[in-house]
Amino acid sequence: MQILGIETSCDETGVSLIEAHGSLESGDTHFTILADELASQVHLHAEYGGVFPSLAKREHIKALPLLLERITRTHDVKNINAIAVTYGPGLEPALWTGITFAENLAREWGVPLVPVNHMEGHVYTALLTKGDGPAHVVMTPQFPAVALLISGGHTDLVLINGIADYTYLGSTVDDAVGEAFDKVARMLGFGYPGGPKVSKLAQEARDMHLPPLEQKLPRPMLRSDDLNFSFSGLKTAVLYHVKRLQETGHILTLDEQRQVACEFENAVADVLAIKTAEALEQTGAQSLIIGGGVSANSFITERIRATLATLHHNDIALYTPEKQLTGDNGLMIAIAGYMNALAHKFHPESEELKATGTLRFKV
Ligand code: KG4
Ligand code: ZN
Repeated sequence: MQILGIETSCDETGVSLIEAHGSLESGDTHFTILADELASQVHLHAEYGGVFPSLAKREHIKALPLLLERITRTHDVKNINAIAVTYGPGLEPALWTGITFAENLAREWGVPLVPVNHMEGHVYTALLTKGDGPAHVVMTPQFPAVALLISGGHTDLVLINGIADYTYLGSTVDDAVGEAFDKVARMLGFGYPGGPKVSKLAQEARDMHLPPLEQKLPRPMLRSDDLNFSFSGLKTAVLYHVKRLQETGHILTLDEQRQVACEFENAVADVLAIKTAEALEQTGAQSLIIGGGVSANSFITERIRATLATLHHNDIALYTPEKQLTGDNGLMIAIAGYMNALAHKFHPESEELKATGTLRFKV
C-alpha cells in the first residue's frame, strides 16, 4: 500500500510517501521510503523563544504545496492508496493547515483520509530498523511495553498493552521536558530550540571536568508516589540561580553557563530515569520505547539504559529512534497512518476532521 504522510503539528512541515507491507501482528511490517520531504521553520521561531502559532501556520501553508510538488514530480499520484495526516496533539492553527491540505487531496484523488495521533508517530519511529536492501522494518516489541514520550509539548509515560492499546501511567503536571530545556536555554541567553544547545553545554562541562554547581537543583516529584512529572519548579530554580549570579551586574561566563546546563540536564535525566524505572517495575513491561524530540538527547537515553540494568527483570528491550528521526517528520505519520489503515481507522468521508490540540491516546 502506498501512503502519503503529512505532518504540521508544530514547526516542521513534513510530507513523506512510503510503500508499506505486512502487519505488526504477524511481525513482518516493512516499507520503502519513496520520498521524504521536510521544511523546518525553527530558525524563524528562534527570536520568540518558542513556536509562534500564526507564523507556523503561514509557513506550513507555503511549504505544503512545494513539498508535495517535489514528490509528485517523480511519483504517480494514481498509485497512492491513502493520505495520513496529524490531527493532534499540537498547535491548532498549524494542525488545521495539514488537515485542510490532506482533505483536499483525498477528495481530488478519491482516496481515504487516515487521521494520525502525532505521539503515536513518535512511538513507531522508535521501532524502526534497517532491513535488507532499501527496506525499513517496523519491529514488533514484546508487550506490555512502556513508552516514555518526551518532546516540546509532552512528557508522558504510557503503557502499551498491545498494538494501538494505550493506558496513561503518568504525565507532566506543568511544563514538558523539552519546554523546560527551551526555557533554560533562554535564561542562559540562547534561542529556540534550546534543547540541543543546553545539552551541548552540559557535555562540555563534563568533558572539561568543571566542578558541579555548589547548590544542587531539585529533582521534582521523586517522592510523589505516582508516575507524574513536574519541571516548572526545576526551571524556576535555574532562574533563581541565574538571577543570583547576575545580581551585581555580572554576566555569566561560558563556564558558568556550562555548569548550570550540566546540573539541569543531570536533574532531568535523574527524574526521567527513576520514574521510567518505576513504571517498568510496576507494570512488569518487557520493552521500553523512548520517543519525541528530546530522545535526541543521548545523555538522557544512556542514563535510562544504564538504569535498566539495575531492575529486577533486567532483560528489557530498549527501542530509541535514529537521531535524524527524533524530531517531527512526515515519515512517522505515514507509518502510523499505515498501521491505522490496516486497522480500517479511516475518517468518514461525510464528516469534517477536526484539529485537536490536546489529543490524547484513546484508552
Ligand atoms: O518532538 P519535537 O520535535 O516537537 C514536539 O512535538 O514538541 O520536540 C521538540 C523539543 C524541543 O523542545 C527541543 O528543544 C527538544 O525537543 N530537543 C532536545 C534535544 N533535541 C531536541 N531537548 C534536549 N536535548 C536535545 N538534544
Ligand atoms: Zn513531536
